[in-house]
Amino acid sequence: MSEKRILLIIGGGIAAFKALLLIRLLAKRGIKTSTIITKAGAEFVTPLSVGGLSGEKTYTDLFSLSDEQEMGHIELSRSSDLVVVVPATADLLAKAARGLANDLASTTLLATDKRVLYAPAMNVRMWEHPATRRNIQILRENHAVFVGPDEGDMACGEFGFGRMAEPETIADAIEKILDGKTHLDDLAPKPLKNKHILITAGPTREPIDPVRFLSNHSSGKQGYAIAKACAALGAKVTLVSGPVALAPPQGVNMVQVETAREMLDASKHALPADVFISVAAVADWRPKTNTNKKIKKDKQKLQPLALRENPDILRTIAGGKNRPKLVIGFAAETDNVLNYAKAKLANKNCDWIVANDVSGDVMGGDNNKVILITKSGADMWPLMGKFEVAKKLAQKIVETIG
Ligand code: CTP
Repeated sequence: MSEKRILLIIGGGIAAFKALLLIRLLAKRGIKTSTIITKAGAEFVTPLSVGGLSGEKTYTDLFSLSDEQEMGHIELSRSSDLVVVVPATADLLAKAARGLANDLASTTLLATDKRVLYAPAMNVRMWEHPATRRNIQILRENHAVFVGPDEGDMACGEFGFGRMAEPETIADAIEKILDGKTHLDDLAPKPLKNKHILITAGPTREPIDPVRFLSNHSSGKQGYAIAKACAALGAKVTLVSGPVALAPPQGVNMVQVETAREMLDASKHALPADVFISVAAVADWRPKTNTNKKIKKDKQKLQPLALRENPDILRTIAGGKNRPKLVIGFAAETDNVLNYAKAKLANKNCDWIVANDVSGDVMGGDNNKVILITKSGADMWPLMGKFEVAKKLAQKIVETIG
């Protein structure tokens, strides 16, 4: 087998010391490491210690003619099988996403024709910032691979997602890619394989006439994020969605519906499922009559819209003969959140309720602060990005049924 080699770019962060452990682990697995240390990285680890471990010259961001003659930056970016960025700071991710090339590390990332693996490490607020989210999205679209970050205590004293993955995990991912498992799916464990998860998301629309409808502000973002997180863990996901402006998540069976009754029919049709997650903001009422002619305002003047109640999809599925093993409802409240949500847990025969306060900008926004209510208690989660909430919920599902 030919010798495997990676190019390791060490960014500036407290987690840079883990890059040293990574070099050692890779050496034990027969993988050679060329290294670049950014200027900020050199504040945390020295070229001497890195070179000592890799047994090779370390390139730094300081411009050096002799370096350039020895190995030009283009050659450096291409002479390895994989480029690995550890720790991938918010700054390095931003540069790579936007194509900046103002130092050796960013120039190399722009010039490389190899796959790039990033192990991000940063403060949780920086990780959740929309600018970082956008940069990550761009890099993913460019086929970058991400390992971590993990949830935990961070050097800055905060808790949350942002702590760099452990060197063993990064080394495993590197080895898998070098073994030709270059598809992202090959890297992640699949604890929900063979499980069918049915999810409803988005609003429903209840027509009044051909041009008007009753609906709500649901964007579908939380439900779509949950679908994506479950699919990433190997689940077969059916996503029954009302009208939203989101792209269907990859690897998910989409069923598009408009009304609550269509959503109920599609959900029943998708059974049996192991888990049902009812994220949709179902319109509680629909107009009693739905004419196929546009209602003229003069004729309708002062006539209130007569309504009738829609079926409760969650209660129907949770009470049906094909009840999934785990039924999770959502409770969107503006006040008395815990009490109303607990009541819904019982009334709707759910196993869990994810409660959230929607009096702020949760509906349509990118963040969510939820309380997970189970029969044994309530767990308050911190404010997180909707995808982080989705991943955490998916992880809980794994612990329960995986
Ligand atoms: N739900 C449903 N079908 C409905 C209404 C709600 O499946 N017709 C589900 C939602 O998807 C959510 C849960 O029930 O999982 C709670 O929804 P919510 O809108 O918070 O509560 P409602 O039951 O509509 O009660 P209220 O509006 O009085 O709070």
